[in-house]
Amino acid sequence: MIARSGVTATLVALLTATNTPAAAQQAEAPLPRLVTNGNHHALLVDGAPFLMLGAQANNSSNYPSALPKVWPVLDQLHANTLEIPVAWQQVEPEEGKFDFSWVQTLLEQARSHDKRLVLLWFGTWKNTNPNYTPAWVLTNNRRFPRMKKPDGSDSYALSPMYRSTLEADKRAFVQLMSYLKAHDPQNTVLMVQVENETGSYGNPRDYGMAAQKLFDGPVPAALVKAQHKQPGNWARVFGDQADRYFNTWYLARYVNEIAAAGKEVKPLPMYANAALAGAFGTPDPKAVASGGPQWDVLDIWKAAAPAIDTEAPDIYDAKSADVAAYLDHYDRPDNPLFVPETGNAPKFARYFWSALGHGAIGYAPFGMDATGYFNYPLGAGPLDDEIIDAFASKYALIAPIDRDWARIAYEHETWGCSRPDDGAAQKKTFGAWTITAKYGQWQFGPDEDDMRRQDAPPWAAKPIGGCLVAALGPDTFLITGDHVRLHIDASNDGPPHPLMVRVEEGHFDKGTWVMDRVWNGDETDYGLNFVDTPYLLKVTMGSYK
Ligand code: DGJ
Repeated sequence: MIARSGVTATLVALLTATNTPAAAQQAEAPLPRLVTNGNHHALLVDGAPFLMLGAQANNSSNYPSALPKVWPVLDQLHANTLEIPVAWQQVEPEEGKFDFSWVQTLLEQARSHDKRLVLLWFGTWKNTNPNYTPAWVLTNNRRFPRMKKPDGSDSYALSPMYRSTLEADKRAFVQLMSYLKAHDPQNTVLMVQVENETGSYGNPRDYGMAAQKLFDGPVPAALVKAQHKQPGNWARVFGDQADRYFNTWYLARYVNEIAAAGKEVKPLPMYANAALAGAFGTPDPKAVASGGPQWDVLDIWKAAAPAIDTEAPDIYDAKSADVAAYLDHYDRPDNPLFVPETGNAPKFARYFWSALGHGAIGYAPFGMDATGYFNYPLGAGPLDDEIIDAFASKYALIAPIDRDWARIAYEHETWGCSRPDDGAAQKKTFGAWTITAKYGQWQFGPDEDDMRRQDAPPWAAKPIGGCLVAALGPDTFLITGDHVRLHIDASNDGPPHPLMVRVEEGHFDKGTWVMDRVWNGDETDYGLNFVDTPYLLKVTMGSYK
């Protein structure tokens, strides 16, 4: 953890370190790590903040034959990070015999395509099921038991209650981390996801005899303390959610043990992704991936799995109120926000701005490769230019400043807006100034105008548009966005004669702002208007006396 007072000096030192010659840097290559500054987080890569402009490949793109269909899409997206599976079944097809040729190919190709990697460990659970375990695990239910249902029959999901399963998964994961330690000194791999969407659908926990005995016993003291409860058995302490909390605790401990063992070898940042339940209220334990890191059980995961650096939402629900709630839930002082998966339909792309406004360390639409598979209706249909461009247009703007943005978000207050489903205006106050975002406006003319209403812009009713704002100082803002009009007015604490003193369009060069031109006249008379040309603005507000 970096103390607030030391942040600027520390980051300047770290940034200087990135300017050292490549060879020296490679020899030193500090491990990627997460740092926290109050509510702000950063992923340090090669010693400096880095924003993962990510893309996740389809599930079965984890073979060398698929990679030629992956890289061009990442390039088109301006992505800097590929998230892609490493399956237990492919690295340990026979017990104790490991084959990391897939990982080696991936490392080499990622480097030659100038991409970083997030590896997704598909082990005991993949979308809760065991289909990515090797056949010797999948078919041996005596040694690697499935969870029991209340009637004594088997569920489909493997139980988190057995050391045999845990030890086997852990051993393979440790082999993977050992391979990375030996073959990835330059840390092409930035982070590792441990398992994928853990939990169990329809059967909230293991009802087998061993599990039942634990369930009837006392809730572990650490969990009682973390949940501010009085001691007692699971049913008494947790009531309706007892089955789910029980599975959450044991499953999170299982994942923790795997992550911790991997970190012993190579301590990369590790995370667990969540199949989300609802954005509001308490879910029905039978209707969710019971055990997974949904937002309402994050405190259980935090207590049970300290080796997991962050729990991360997979966002496939495009409703604006829900997305806003999910981003809020997973953005915590103890949980750096990372969106490792989101639908790749264009309607999701606007939430990139809100995620970055929350200080996200990374973001990735799912299914971004040209292998021909698409997960419509969850995400988009066949990838075409419109789908890719919905994300690429934003990534293209942020890619040249990915490290600048990550540093700014670590040090300054930020806000992102995304067009809500009803298209209503949104507001955010930064001290003396209130920024209002309006959607569906042309660049010219007042907000309310009959002529404009009859001749609305083609994007007026579309689910696109958003903004990204960082308060660089009390009166200075870094602003960008698309399909949005921004007004900046004095807040209740603002000056009596507010003025927009200067609006510079520019870019960053080695961390320093460079002005390219000044916006004035039409460009500022009706707010700051962003449509589909990407601009980066530095806006200075003031007043006259
Ligand atoms: C979420 C999972 O984590 C992904 O692997 C994938 O199955 C998507 N759901 C659906 O395409």
